[in-house]
Amino acid sequence: MTDLTAAGAFTLGDRTVRRMGYGAMQLAGPGVFGPPKDRAEALAVLREAIASGVNHIDTSDYYGPYVTNQLIREALHPYPAGLTIVTKVGGKRGADASWNPAQTPPELTQAVHDNLRNLGVDTIDVVNLRVMGAGMAPSEGSIGERFAALADLRRQGLIRHLGLSNATAAQVEEAQAIAPVVCVQNYYNLAHRDDDALIDQLAAKGIAYVPFFPLGGFSPLQSAALSSVAARLEATPLQVALAWLLHRAPNILLIPGTSSVAHLRQNLAAAELALPDEVIAELNAVGAEHEHAAT
Ligand SMILES: NC(=O)c1ccc[n+]([C@@H]2O[C@H](COP(=O)([O-])OP(=O)(O)OC[C@H]3O[C@@H](n4cnc5c(N)ncnc54)[C@H](OP(=O)(O)O)[C@@H]3O)[C@@H](O)[C@H]2O)c1
Repeated sequence: MTDLTAAGAFTLGDRTVRRMGYGAMQLAGPGVFGPPKDRAEALAVLREAIASGVNHIDTSDYYGPYVTNQLIREALHPYPAGLTIVTKVGGKRGADASWNPAQTPPELTQAVHDNLRNLGVDTIDVVNLRVMGAGMAPSEGSIGERFAALADLRRQGLIRHLGLSNATAAQVEEAQAIAPVVCVQNYYNLAHRDDDALIDQLAAKGIAYVPFFPLGGFSPLQSAALSSVAARLEATPLQVALAWLLHRAPNILLIPGTSSVAHLRQNLAAAELALPDEVIAELNAVGAEHEHAAT
C-alpha cells in the first residue's frame, strides 16, 4: 500500500492533513447529477481512501445534489478522528441538472445547515465560499457580504474554518480582513497555470492551495511530454501530473476525483513518485506551451 506520508502534510487552520487527499465529486451520477452509476463501488472508494490514509475529503451538497455527502456519511460515519471534510457552498442544481448560483446570505446559511445535516455533523471542518465567475475562471468583484455571512456562522460554531473557491487574489485579501482564510480552491493543473502567482502568494501566507481538476477534470490531461515522462518513470501520465503538482509548491493539497477503486489506488500512489530535476523542467515546459497556445 502507498505510504501517503511520503507526500508530506499541510495545515488547514488547526487541522493537519496529508497533501494527498480525495475529491468526492465523481461519486455522483453522470453529469454530477443523481445517484452513482455503481453505488457499492462509490462506498468502496470512500472506505478505501480512508483505509489508505487519506484524511482530507473535498465535497459539496450540490454534487448530486446531496448525493456525495450522503454517501460520505453512509460510508464513513462516525468519522475517524483526524478526518477533515471540506465542503463548498454558493451553488444549487436545477431539476434539469443545471448549475445555478445560490450566493445570497440566506441561501449560504441554508446550504451550511443542509451540509451539517447531510454529513451528520455539528460543525463542518471547512466551508469554501464558491464564488461564481465566468464558469471555471474567477472574476473580480466584492465578496464581502457573502463571506461575512459565513464568518457569522463560524462565530456561531457551525463552521471551524473558512476558505474560498474560484477566487482572485483581491478577493482572498478582502475575505482575510473579515475572517481567516485557510484554503483557496481554484482551477489549476499542469496545463492550466493561471494561478502560478497566487499559489506562491498563498504559500508565503501559510494558506493551502487546492487545485480543482488536478487531472484535467472531465477530460483527463493528455500530452506527449506527460506520456514520455511516464513511460521513463514506469508510472502513468496522470500519476506524473499529480506528482508534478506535489512538487510545484508545498502548500498544494491534492483532491483528485474518481469513481473507481482502481483509479483511486493509482492516484494515491503518486504520493511516492519522485520526479528528477530534468523531468520537472520538461513538465514545466508543457505548462508554458499551453500558456503560449492560449494567448
Ligand atoms: N471548486 C470547484 O468549483 C470545483 C470544480 C470541480 C471539482 N472540484 C473538486 O475537485 C475534485 C477533483 O476534480 P474532478 O474530480 O472534477 O477532476 P479531476 O480530479 O481532474 O479528474 C477526474 C476525472 O479523471 C478520471 N480519473 C481519475 N483518476 C483516474 C485514473 N487514475 N485513470 C484514468 N482516469 C482517471 C475520473 O474518471 P473515473 O471516475 O472513471 O476515475 C474523472 O473523469 C472534485 O472531486 C471536487 O471535489 C471543485
